[in-house]
Amino acid sequence: MARRLQPSLGEIGEAARALRTGKLVAFPTETVYGLGGDATNDRAVAAIFAAKGRPSFNPLIVHVSNISAAAQFAELSAKAQVVARRFWPGPLTLVLPRRRDCKISLLATAGLDSVALRVPAHKIAQTLLMMAGVPLAAPSANPSGRLSPTQADHVLSDLGDKVEFVIDDGPCAIGVESTVLSLLEDKPRILRPGAVTAEEIAAALQEPVEIAADTEDVAAPRSPGRLVSHYAPSLPVRLNATQAEPGEALLGFGPDAPKQALNLSPTGDLQEAAANLFAMLRKLDDPRHRGIAIMPVPETGLGLAINDRLRRAAAPRAM
Ligand code: TXA
Ligand code: MG
Repeated sequence: MARRLQPSLGEIGEAARALRTGKLVAFPTETVYGLGGDATNDRAVAAIFAAKGRPSFNPLIVHVSNISAAAQFAELSAKAQVVARRFWPGPLTLVLPRRRDCKISLLATAGLDSVALRVPAHKIAQTLLMMAGVPLAAPSANPSGRLSPTQADHVLSDLGDKVEFVIDDGPCAIGVESTVLSLLEDKPRILRPGAVTAEEIAAALQEPVEIAADTEDVAAPRSPGRLVSHYAPSLPVRLNATQAEPGEALLGFGPDAPKQALNLSPTGDLQEAAANLFAMLRKLDDPRHRGIAIMPVPETGLGLAINDRLRRAAAPRAM
């Protein structure tokens, strides 16, 4: 069973040493908890794919301390530098051309000639990166396709037997994954909506930003035209519900939700809703119910990221 570490310098140092020897450590970021391993170590990266049961053609996000660390691994165009300066450290991941001398494991980038980099703002993540001295591949610390963890307890119950340590720094402030922005082509393109919105990126770049259709599985286009099941609880999910059908649990949003229902945000605040999203879905994912009915969340700002996760949670599941 993984040991829970306190976010003290001594215990973070212990985690950093474990990472340098190829072990896996789950750590908090401002978005969700990550399952971290040395991105330059093929065996550590293979262990991440194995622990998650993640198809190895789906590349991982690699975390680095700052822009100059990012520049060791990827080509930073003028546009990339503008967005990096504006949004790093923070909940934005940039997909950039891999440098020819890039030391990141080819397994982490699934053999692509691009790499997804992120500089997290979370203090513990930053300290861990600094102390480990290596880039950290870190997908969300959950079994592939399931709900992302926003608390150390989620990681311990899902992957407790697969990681060495979980650094516990309480619940994640944002609660949904980073925005993934591809700068590989001329037009900037959002591959995954997240905490940084298209409008904010467009304003920083002073040009329009495309958003990939959510029927695309951008890095692994195996089933074009189909919404990809992901972020899914065990129970079936029904969207745009106004009330629960018999046997269903209701997840509310806003002041109109029934008082007895769990509510993502009684005041209708999207930030609060994002922070509550995965923990509340976990709470309702109980075999005493036959399904989870979810009230509509407005498709603006952070609502885009929330609805992206909800549509995937409700998508038809592969066997
Ligand atoms: O908030 C987050 O981003 C969390 C925390 C832990 O940092 N991490 C996370 O990592 O969600 P991961 O590995 O689960 O997310 C990978 C996403 C996927 O949508 C993947 O397809 C995309 O990034 N991705 C990674 N490398 C890519 C590449 N070279 N080209 C296109 N998409 C890529
Ligand atoms: Mg994930």
